[in-house]
Amino acid sequence: MPLVPPYIQNLANYVPGKPIAEVQREFDLSHVDKLASNENSLGPSPKAIKAMAETLSGLHRYPDVSGYELRTKLANRFNIKMKNVILGAGSEGIMSTIIRTFLLQDDELISAANSFIGFRVLANASGRKIHWVPMKKHRYDLEKMIILDEAYFEFAQAIDDYPNSMNYRYDNVITLRTFSKAYGLAGLRIGYGFAHDTLISNLMKVKEPFEPSLIALTAGVAAMDDTEFLKKTIAMNLTGYAFLENELQLLGVEIISSAANFITTVWNSEKRAAEITQSLLHKGIIVRSLTAFGWPEYIRVSIGTETENRRFIDALKTLL
Ligand SMILES: Cc1ncc(COP(=O)(O)O)c(C=O)c1O
Repeated sequence: MPLVPPYIQNLANYVPGKPIAEVQREFDLSHVDKLASNENSLGPSPKAIKAMAETLSGLHRYPDVSGYELRTKLANRFNIKMKNVILGAGSEGIMSTIIRTFLLQDDELISAANSFIGFRVLANASGRKIHWVPMKKHRYDLEKMIILDEAYFEFAQAIDDYPNSMNYRYDNVITLRTFSKAYGLAGLRIGYGFAHDTLISNLMKVKEPFEPSLIALTAGVAAMDDTEFLKKTIAMNLTGYAFLENELQLLGVEIISSAANFITTVWNSEKRAAEITQSLLHKGIIVRSLTAFGWPEYIRVSIGTETENRRFIDALKTLL
């Protein structure tokens, strides 16, 4: 009997957007901008920071397993019941719980090709057969899937044809959302999901009991009241997106538009995209090559602050 199943042994490591400290070390740079992981360049929600600071002295206690306060708050905000809400260590934490909860040994998975790499890693690690549904012109083929991952909900919801999954409250639909993006809490790991109570009650049996942490629960509750920060984030994103879109067009760079806090650039070859990514790194700007997503000629850029966006465009201009 092998110690490790072959599907784990053959698994490639998750490759995240490069951390700032690593690029600083590698290229001996004093300043680095990270526009690679669609984080919030404004930082964490200030209300969440304050609430977390106040929680520190209570960290000798385990978190509330039921996540009562945050689940109730989410239920009230989105007009559902607490029994329809699940919490997790990021939406990825919930994806992991979903895989462990619902799949029989021989079940197969269906997911979108070229999409969020975290789900691909979890799916591959489950050792099951996966059907990758191709995108239709860079959009999901929604009719073929079940879990709706709305990590960028806060940015996208204002758009007229946004297919809000809350309008599809079928028994087998799970909505996943996160505090990682618009609320600036990616490092904390806190996300949530909505679904029929039968699905939620089973997920609750399987999830790690003390996930999310006490501090993450506290931050989530406080962040939800930080409307000022959310507004500021969305406004920065709209302005930054328009700026980048315009500048990239002026530079003749092809883009794939998005309703989220990133923009994807298209290059004429894998080699060119790799050159651009690497040269930007040398200039202290981390962007995300989409090679691991199956799109080696694409580079994704997160929308940052005005200064970060400007620095990225200036750096790109000198390269082109
Ligand atoms: C589409 C998508 N889903 C989920 C996530 C992960 O979110 P979380 O930090 O809540 O695990 C990301 C993060 O980049 C994402 O892009």
